[in-house]
Amino acid sequence: MLASATEEHAPFASPQIGWAEQQPEDWWRACGIAIRKALSSANIGANEIACVGLSGQMHGAVMLDEQDRVVRPALIWCDVRTEKQCQELTEKIGADRLIQLTCNPALPNFTLTKFLWVRENEPENWKRVRSVMLPKDYVRFRMTGERAIDVADASGTLLLDVARRRWSNEMLQATQIDERLLPKVYESSDVCGKISPEGAAATGLKPGTPVVAGAGDQAAGATGMGIVVPGAVSATIGTSGVVFAATDRPALDSKGRLHTFCHAIPGRWHVMGVTQAAGLSLRWFRDNLCSATDSYDKLTAEASAVSPGADGLLWTPYLMGERTPHLDGQARAALVGLTASHTRGHIVRAILEGVAFSLRDTFTIFEEMKVPVRSIRLGGGGARSALWRQIQADVYGHEVEIVEAEEGAAYGAAILAGVGAALWPSVDAACNAIIRVTQRVPAGADVVAKMNESYANYRRVYPATRSVFKN
Ligand code: XUL
Repeated sequence: MLASATEEHAPFASPQIGWAEQQPEDWWRACGIAIRKALSSANIGANEIACVGLSGQMHGAVMLDEQDRVVRPALIWCDVRTEKQCQELTEKIGADRLIQLTCNPALPNFTLTKFLWVRENEPENWKRVRSVMLPKDYVRFRMTGERAIDVADASGTLLLDVARRRWSNEMLQATQIDERLLPKVYESSDVCGKISPEGAAATGLKPGTPVVAGAGDQAAGATGMGIVVPGAVSATIGTSGVVFAATDRPALDSKGRLHTFCHAIPGRWHVMGVTQAAGLSLRWFRDNLCSATDSYDKLTAEASAVSPGADGLLWTPYLMGERTPHLDGQARAALVGLTASHTRGHIVRAILEGVAFSLRDTFTIFEEMKVPVRSIRLGGGGARSALWRQIQADVYGHEVEIVEAEEGAAYGAAILAGVGAALWPSVDAACNAIIRVTQRVPAGADVVAKMNESYANYRRVYPATRSVFKN
């Protein structure tokens, strides 16, 4: 890696409980600045860029009008307002048939349900919609003028026939969505456009530079960590938390608790379980209940002083409802078991452990489905904190690995661009050539039993609290 740069975009707005919206133009603004920063800090000319890769948050619904203006703010991945549309879809198509057609059940996170919500609740907006796309594909559109998507990101729309890697006619017909609204589907390392003069002016890239399809953040992040063959598994704690396994077939969970999506590699798929509020749990705690001087380092130092199990304190991280394993947009977070002896360090430790328990739920389902787990690599903020790394090893009861490149999805997108530019013959070859494990953290033999006990208690919190929050 020669250079990396970031530029913040605005956080999501939540005008009502369960809603999450962002302005697509803001992503594009931040993107232009970040690309310029990366180019200047790498000290290389735009003519030295062989190819551009893209990745971004999945599932978001971007809607454009006749003049390609954004019709309304995007409903993003963690927006869960579409329970009603999900129920109606499931009744109309049938739960089993939905899984046969798309490999997944109807969940409020998935893009189709967001279009249906807008059509039903804002018909004047929907009438103006002439094309739809996902977040990173809006950035692509502004860079290249092309309306395109990769199979991995398209898998999270509920409109893709994931097994056959193309839009599902039956889903389009059943929901009366016109295929002409949708972008064209590509494999992730296919070149599907080039930087336009407008894209060049905004980013500093050279007009004509090829752009590959790229992938949603999970498939790209997994690629960047070398999670490309069966047996390789990652556990990534960013805003959301994801346990991701590469497979050579679309492996289905008949209960729909895991997502079965196309991988960023032709002929491969993946299964993943998602915790809605993983890193978000800690950020929420810091932003709302701590002072400006309380850094993550300070909070985790306090948590390190507390023994594993947080003296019985438990956190279920359902701040934005939950996907795996509950598929329940109305699930609510809970801090259970507080006593006067508990300190702030206990709460932080309970949050770090609770998020890891929530990811462990996916490993539990992998066991049921016989998805092999040979190695576990950590990604995201959860890999950067020494304490969270150890907690994850202890909670999963398995050694965890850290890889050299920390850039996650951006690194994976760069690999896909490299394959698109024929620098490597395949994604596998690229991963073998450049991904290195730098650290292995074994599970603490004496702590695993304690964590198993806490996990068993954690599993009892959701069923016990569910009736308190049920509408
Ligand atoms: C995956 C998912 C998240 C978001 C935001 O299903 O919802 O990865 O893309 O990170």
